[in-house]
Amino acid sequence: MCGIVGYTGTREAYPIIIKGLKRLEYRGYDSTGVALLNGKLNVYKKKGKVADLEEAVLGKNLHAHTGIGHTRWATHGEPSDRNAHPHQSAGGKIAMIHNGIIENYLQLKQDLSNKGYTFQSDTDTEVLLNFIEEIKKNNQCNLEEAVRIALKRVTGAYVILLLDEDDPGTIIAARKGSPLVIGIGKGEHFLGSDASPMLEYTKEVVYVNDYELAIVKPDELILKNLGNERVTPYIQKLDIELAAIEKGGYEHFMLKEIHEQPQTIYDCLRGRLDAMEGTITMSGIQQYAEQIVNANRIVMIACGTSWHAGLVAEYIFEELCRINVEVEYASEFRYRNPVVHKGDVIIAISQSGETADTLVAIEKAKEKGAIILGVVNVVGSSIARTSHGGAYTHAGPEIGVASTKAFTAQLAVLTMIALKIGYIKGTIEEERYRYLLKELQEIPEKVAWTLNHSDNIKALAEKYKDAHDFLYLGRGYNFPVALEGALKLKEISYIHAEGYPAAEMKHGPIALVDDKLPVVFVATKDAYHEKVVSNMQEIKARKGKVIAVITEGDESTKAICDDVMLVPEADEILAPMLSVVPLQLLAYYIGIARGCDVDKPRNLAKSVTVE
Ligand code: M6R
Repeated sequence: MCGIVGYTGTREAYPIIIKGLKRLEYRGYDSTGVALLNGKLNVYKKKGKVADLEEAVLGKNLHAHTGIGHTRWATHGEPSDRNAHPHQSAGGKIAMIHNGIIENYLQLKQDLSNKGYTFQSDTDTEVLLNFIEEIKKNNQCNLEEAVRIALKRVTGAYVILLLDEDDPGTIIAARKGSPLVIGIGKGEHFLGSDASPMLEYTKEVVYVNDYELAIVKPDELILKNLGNERVTPYIQKLDIELAAIEKGGYEHFMLKEIHEQPQTIYDCLRGRLDAMEGTITMSGIQQYAEQIVNANRIVMIACGTSWHAGLVAEYIFEELCRINVEVEYASEFRYRNPVVHKGDVIIAISQSGETADTLVAIEKAKEKGAIILGVVNVVGSSIARTSHGGAYTHAGPEIGVASTKAFTAQLAVLTMIALKIGYIKGTIEEERYRYLLKELQEIPEKVAWTLNHSDNIKALAEKYKDAHDFLYLGRGYNFPVALEGALKLKEISYIHAEGYPAAEMKHGPIALVDDKLPVVFVATKDAYHEKVVSNMQEIKARKGKVIAVITEGDESTKAICDDVMLVPEADEILAPMLSVVPLQLLAYYIGIARGCDVDKPRNLAKSVTVE
């Protein structure tokens, strides 16, 4: 939620910031703005996307070697020019951008109003900025000191970047709960919500921790804690290439990422799974293997698509490891008083590794003594760093707001963990274990097959694009896939869609069925197949339209469907990695057919760093 970029050095700041903001637009695109410091502050901001700002600043003075930029996902105040960041302090000399929420801003605003401050926007950010300015004025201190004092008084989450006319060339930055990466160049520094704005300039980065404050000058980076003590920056090497964050010839990131799945699942298995040897090597899991094997229960914590991956994993772990699994929405878990015992195993699943609810939920469980394992895509992210162990999904940067390749990579990792633990625990027979390893190794090829047999999906999208509602139904391992298919469709095409266990349909949703309702079944060949086919007949009997993901060669099921999408045969445990792919494509093509911005659907952001 919200992307932030900063630059200080010898180059022109504006083009670097704009390019960086375009890469961070997945984090929000309600408004965009830049503040450029060249003796005086020049602040330009505009409702809409980065391209709108570019147009608005044509002919303006953009020269500066220091600047900050912001792309917004609105929390406080509607998307508008005046609520866009950067904000300027009442005195006009300080500019600030912010990602996060200041929870006690109303109280601060009241105090400032009593002192005569007036506000140009409805944002919590402008309140914090003026609070900082007030402290600077009253204490006759520099900006760094004022920020430190202010942050001790605020509650909430933030990454803030500030420029001050009194200190040209310096960016003051601080974080708690929202991500901040600083790239180190020669005589220059780059700041970003993630590393994408700095990829072509440097491979050396520092991930700033919570409660740290950075004083960033062209040739110096000082990190301090809020107690004003110096912290040694831990410099890490980036291993992302620029090509990974570009569209590579595809029209949209979403389509590119769907098509990357054979490779990303392969990358996820590579070096870990050895079907010949019968081994799974995952050091971040091995370390905690004994605790997982002996756990009374495993709790999966996640949001959105990652939560759906957790649901699939619940079925897999219970089957292969005979361990009780609970799958929790992070936002619910964190606000309950959940029973967590020392030694409980929590698996946090997150693409971004920055989802605020998931992060806070695991922090709380960690305090209570739980072992936290992260299944995370973004290396060095907050959830990855908060976890004791775990495994990265290695899906590469996912830029489309709709999660696709991250989901299948999560499934691949979770399946490997379950196989490893089940094998150690002795709850999987050797023969089945070996068979599943071999099958899992073949999944990338089978995903490629699925993509190669998906030509009809575009035409299906045209046929059903005007429907007002969709139902998605599945059983067993395919039930969470139905939920995921429905989520993909609603977020990309804005069509109302609901996922249900196929049998549950009779307990209410069947009332919706008429000759206009498309019902998408995830009906691959598995133990429940005949039951699912009966559910299809029930829909047909009420004149509903049946579209189904079926196993190649299943002619009898095909015969009762209006339309089908094919996947190759696979063990039911692994089938979700295949059956979700046609549903991703269906959502994509329906979104395109309805003229939607599939990479940046309305109201959404890729990384939900507010609760
Ligand atoms: O980064 P995370 O996996 O923690 O994100 C969780 C959800 O916000 C995310 O999956 C969201 O539901 C996606 N837009 C779904 O496509």
